[in-house]
Amino acid sequence: MISQDAHSFAKPEECVISHAKFYFNIDFPSKTIHGKASYKLEKAKDAKELALDTRNLSIKNVTDQDGKKLKYNLHSEIKYLGKALIVQLKPETKEVTVVYHTTEGSDALQWLNAEQTAGKNYPFLFTQGQAILSRTWIPVQDSPGIRFTWEADVQIQSDLLPLMSGTNPTMVNNNGLYHFEMNKPVPAYLIALTAGNLTFRSLGKKTGVYAEPESIASAAYEFAEIQNMLHEAEALNGKYLWDRYDVIVLPPSFPFGGMENPMLTFATPTILAGDRSLTSLIAHELAHSWSGNLVTNKTWDDFWLNEGFTVYFERRIMESLYGKEYADMLAVLGYQDLLETIDDLGADSEDTRLKLSLKDRDADDGMTDIAYEKGCLLLLQIEALKGRQAFDEFVNTYFKHFAFKSITTEQFTEFASTSLSLSAEEKVMVESWIYQPGLPQQHSKPESDRLNRANKQSLDFSENRISASQIDTSGWSSHEWLTFIRNLDQQISSAKCFELDQQFGFTQSGNSEIKFAWFMKAIPADYRGCDEAVFDFLSSVGRRKFVLPLFKMLAKNERLSDLAQKHFIKVRNSYHSVTSNSVNEVFNTKK
Ligand code: BES
Ligand code: ZN
Repeated sequence: MISQDAHSFAKPEECVISHAKFYFNIDFPSKTIHGKASYKLEKAKDAKELALDTRNLSIKNVTDQDGKKLKYNLHSEIKYLGKALIVQLKPETKEVTVVYHTTEGSDALQWLNAEQTAGKNYPFLFTQGQAILSRTWIPVQDSPGIRFTWEADVQIQSDLLPLMSGTNPTMVNNNGLYHFEMNKPVPAYLIALTAGNLTFRSLGKKTGVYAEPESIASAAYEFAEIQNMLHEAEALNGKYLWDRYDVIVLPPSFPFGGMENPMLTFATPTILAGDRSLTSLIAHELAHSWSGNLVTNKTWDDFWLNEGFTVYFERRIMESLYGKEYADMLAVLGYQDLLETIDDLGADSEDTRLKLSLKDRDADDGMTDIAYEKGCLLLLQIEALKGRQAFDEFVNTYFKHFAFKSITTEQFTEFASTSLSLSAEEKVMVESWIYQPGLPQQHSKPESDRLNRANKQSLDFSENRISASQIDTSGWSSHEWLTFIRNLDQQISSAKCFELDQQFGFTQSGNSEIKFAWFMKAIPADYRGCDEAVFDFLSSVGRRKFVLPLFKMLAKNERLSDLAQKHFIKVRNSYHSVTSNSVNEVFNTKK
């Protein structure tokens, strides 16, 4: 079956990469990576070309396995996709080597000055490949449907530790030359590199955490349960096939909460809440070791296969560790996100279907709660239909059957209907979730008594039945606080915000999710007591999930919109491109 990836120039039926050998020289003063990528090829009989994806790269030369020059052509730029690099192959060409360097437009990379790190003494670098940014730092077949093994030699100044999404060192050496390997076939979006003043702390036999020395202790505290999570995940999904599972805590400009780079999850420091209340994010990235990294979406239209399954397993892992009551709270919070997203997109919007059509658009547009939460709900629906035991068996065979493969939504449906013996009617139901917009009438609504009680207080306060000091918050977890804030009246007054803030100190909360939810209520209420904290937050944190909605909200506030735009222009260079490009669209400030 051919399912064309609309976001790659690669022509896999003609020629694919089977193994890559990289050399990366990381030069901080010029903020450039000088690279060499050598690819072993698997060619069809009469293959004439190797098509690679590139974007904003400077290509120096292309040679074969004997160092002989090969002819190549860099095609014209196509929006979102970049330029195809077409290499002419000879019948005897077995290997292709591209020498190149990155440029200022290499959007995957973020080069941080020392001031943007916790320690403030050393620069920092990290990459973000998903969805289609790997081609901005490596000329490569950048399609999730194409997998290859790789190895890399990295040269760096000798006081910094480089890490990759593969086997990793734990300490700096004298010459700054490091070797990395990934001996399982992975798609290009899962190749990642980071470097900085980093230390390592072991958290178990196969797990550990990297962070700057300034935050290693709080990171080790926050993630103490990782080894247990791994244990529970294996009990659910089968053996962990990636050897080690480590996490690195990046500086606050990291644009995502987490990124499931194989063997080394990249994480935002905004989950270091001090009380382990946001560790479901680690369960999520760990779960991707199966859903996403082992079995991968074939194209970005099938993105829900990565994220829907992963949210489902994230909650199962949390349920195994902390019980059903805890997992139910997470499920309800996720369901709230889903309803809001459907409301924003419109219930008949094509983007509310699980199977997306992102052709001619940025692949990143698929990153909505539809893939995550509607995807998870579909799996819950199937689980409810067939029973948990049958569902668990299905999932185990699914991961075994498709291990190290990239699959389409249609392959999922086919496999599920056979192995779960779905009736014709059940298959129609599954397909309507996948191809129809909105949410089917019949779906299981997650419920949580604990969150219901918190919501009731929220309503009672909003409708003036109780004052802030009468709110009963005894035994509340951060999830109850979160739902309490989210459910405050949309038209809550500034005076009531003041009252709540006096009582609970939300503006100064150490929990980033609570702080964010609070700002999202306080800005439209025009509560001035949080102005300064909002702008401070936007100066220090680059996580798009927080930054983008906050700027959108500020742009709608007459008193603050000009200030917000000025602030954005002032701080945007401290954001990763993923975040700054998204906010540029809000203010129409594309450079
Ligand atoms: N793989 C995603 C991040 C991603 C998706 C990056 C699409 C680029 C394009 C990661 O696993 C993720 O989902 N992160 C979430 C956290 C999660 C707990 C929902 C995030 O960053 O907020
Ligand atoms: Zn994810």
